[in-house]
Amino acid sequence: MLVSLGALLFAVAGTLSQQTGNHVDWPRWCGKVYQDGYPAFDPGGQTRPPLPISGPPLLDIQFKPRYSLYLNSESQGQFVVNAPLSQLFGTPWTKSTKCRQRLSFTISVVSNTTNHTEPLVSSHLTVNTTGNTFPFSLASITPSLTPISLLLTAGNYTAVSSLLYLPTKSTGSTTRIDNRNGGLFHSSPTTDHKFVPLFPYGFYASYDNFLSNISTTNTSAIDTYTSTGLNAMTPLTTLSDTPFALTYLSSHDVKIMYDLRENYKNSSFVQTQATLAPSLDSLFAYWSVDEPDGWQDPFSAPLTAQSILHSVDPYHPAAVVLNCQNYYFPQYSAAADIIMEDVYPIGIKPSFSKWNTTCNTTLGDCGCDNCAGSVFDVANRLEDLSNYERWANLWPKTKFHNPQSFHGEGYWARDPTPEEEWAMVMLAVNHGAKGMMSWVYPAAESLVEAHGRLAKVLTVGPVVNYIVGGGRAKRVEVGVEGIDVAVWEREGSMLVSIVNGGGSVQGRVTVPVPRAVKVKSRPWGELEWTLDGGQLSSAELPGMSTSLLILELV
Ligand SMILES: *[C@@H]1O[C@H](CO)[C@@H](O)[C@H](O)[C@H]1NC(C)=O
Ligand SMILES: *[C@@H]1O[C@H](CO)[C@@H](O)[C@H](O)[C@H]1NC(C)=O
Ligand SMILES: *[C@@H]1O[C@H](CO)[C@@H](O)[C@H](O)[C@H]1NC(C)=O
Ligand SMILES: *[C@@H]1O[C@H](CO)[C@@H](O)[C@H](O)[C@H]1NC(C)=O
Ligand SMILES: *[C@@H]1O[C@H](CO)[C@@H](O)[C@H](O)[C@H]1NC(C)=O
Ligand SMILES: *[C@@H]1O[C@H](CO)[C@@H](O)[C@H](O)[C@H]1NC(C)=O
Ligand SMILES: *[C@@H]1O[C@H](CO)[C@@H](O)[C@H](O)[C@H]1NC(C)=O
Ligand SMILES: *[C@@H]1O[C@H](CO)[C@@H](O)[C@H](O)[C@H]1NC(C)=O
Ligand SMILES: *[C@@H]1O[C@H](CO)[C@@H](O)[C@H](O)[C@H]1NC(C)=O
Repeated sequence: MLVSLGALLFAVAGTLSQQTGNHVDWPRWCGKVYQDGYPAFDPGGQTRPPLPISGPPLLDIQFKPRYSLYLNSESQGQFVVNAPLSQLFGTPWTKSTKCRQRLSFTISVVSNTTNHTEPLVSSHLTVNTTGNTFPFSLASITPSLTPISLLLTAGNYTAVSSLLYLPTKSTGSTTRIDNRNGGLFHSSPTTDHKFVPLFPYGFYASYDNFLSNISTTNTSAIDTYTSTGLNAMTPLTTLSDTPFALTYLSSHDVKIMYDLRENYKNSSFVQTQATLAPSLDSLFAYWSVDEPDGWQDPFSAPLTAQSILHSVDPYHPAAVVLNCQNYYFPQYSAAADIIMEDVYPIGIKPSFSKWNTTCNTTLGDCGCDNCAGSVFDVANRLEDLSNYERWANLWPKTKFHNPQSFHGEGYWARDPTPEEEWAMVMLAVNHGAKGMMSWVYPAAESLVEAHGRLAKVLTVGPVVNYIVGGGRAKRVEVGVEGIDVAVWEREGSMLVSIVNGGGSVQGRVTVPVPRAVKVKSRPWGELEWTLDGGQLSSAELPGMSTSLLILELV
């Protein structure tokens, strides 16, 4: 997570030939040279908007099962089908686009050993629509530990996907990803093996001076952590090294992201750990790789780790941290079921580094790649990653933010304040983040307390039912610089998140919420918002203020 520079130089010397980008023999981070005495150059690997193709519009059908996996105990699934028309991707659509065209299609299992004559879905969709859902029966499908290939056929248009339909386990946990809205759902003995929305919120937790000190007779350091309200952790150790502490965390239902990063290129290590980790009932994901883009790792290395994880433990997703703003995103995100970004913008000098070089898009490392040094770097990075997915025509993946709870290393002059932490976390949530893993515990007590307070709100009902259980965040423009608003709707009500990531705003601020009739609750924030005529307003909006309100809709 943090760039250990001694290690960086050593690693560069050892793996030259396998590195990506340009000038692989120079000391680089995110493809850019960071030491003084080298020229700036194009690091390569930028993902850019595609160029429109002239001619008739293109139809691009893509589909996925609603959830990344189903269990044998379930009898029904759902497909999400997108069929947009654009000038960018797909196959020419030669029919009229004037009226709404219906297109018949089927979705079937593709198998070398059986010919399924009955399609799972036989239906129709309207061309140029997205997010269509179609139920299907799982009854005819044999559960398997490997993905089942699927084919969608609509006349001469086709699309492929796959379905994971796993044998039900009697022990341990299962995590699945909502391929429509991006949230995680977790089932474990604690939930009586039912899937419930999970918003993981915790810290990467160090071994030295924390987990290494936990003993069977003294667990007080972990008890302090859990008492804050945090519901998750990425312990920076393994079951092989620290069995009691990890088992204790699991028995207290602290959701665990399991750390494999130190040895992720060692297949037998990954295999061994993925065999051990499922004994933790609270396991929710693997942290397979840390910043492969920053290190310019070979593209294949994270993919190998992911494929071992999927084959040994198909019940849990793999999370990859991406550090770079725009360096081979499609290649480095390919191995991620969950993409985490570790944008640490507070206290940086964004344009001149400790290495005595300028930082810009072709040179230097200032601790936060191509950042401005503002809380909005977090929101902008999440938007960048989503744009790259759109530009590369990739199905959007689940994203987490790694909040900065540290300073030092010659890059970060200070810790964020609690208000900045809340602003960055809520900006991330507004821009689609579905989990938080902060670097690094132990942290300043005020920051642990700040994250714990917000975790107590984001990880439980009613809020988690909107940010994970509801649809995707929708943006609301208020036209005041620095103010960022998102809403989630669910069952006749709406969660509104209002962040002022800039300075104090003078004068009344209003947020349009046309169908809202009543403030039901205020899960977070001290500000006095009033609702009148479809507008929320507050007499003042201090800098770095954050608010969550639940409104009743007509
Ligand atoms: C099914 O057949 C295809 C084409 O012959 C082959 O590439 C693929 O490996 C086979 N899959 C299995 C699971 O046997
Ligand atoms: C499936 O159907 C195709 C086309 O009719 C046939 O060639 C193939 O042998 C069948 N495969 C199996 C496994 O029955
Ligand atoms: C498809 O839908 C989009 C968004 O709804 C719209 O902007 C576009 O004009 C439509 N394209 C065609 C060819 O109808
Ligand atoms: C698909 O079929 C239609 C006629 O059914 C034809 O006009 C069109 O060119 C075909 N598209 C492709 C990509 O083959
Ligand atoms: C953790 O254990 C080490 C070694 O036993 C000790 O030096 C250190 O003070 C302990 N830290 C805490 C926070 O108890
Ligand atoms: C238990 O551990 C905590 C933190 O590591 C330490 O501060 C405390 O003194 C220990 N208690 C006992 C009884 O050893
Ligand atoms: C790879 O991992 C295995 C299993 O953990 C271990 O025995 C072996 O020493 C590791 N190899 C290297 C080169 O680190
Ligand atoms: C940067 O320049 C300063 C002043 O010239 C010098 O003291 C320092 O050692 C340089 N740092 C590095 C990493 O080169
Ligand atoms: C980055 O800074 C270096 C050094 O000042 C300069 O040579 C280079 O042109 C800059 N790159 C961009 C994209 O401005």
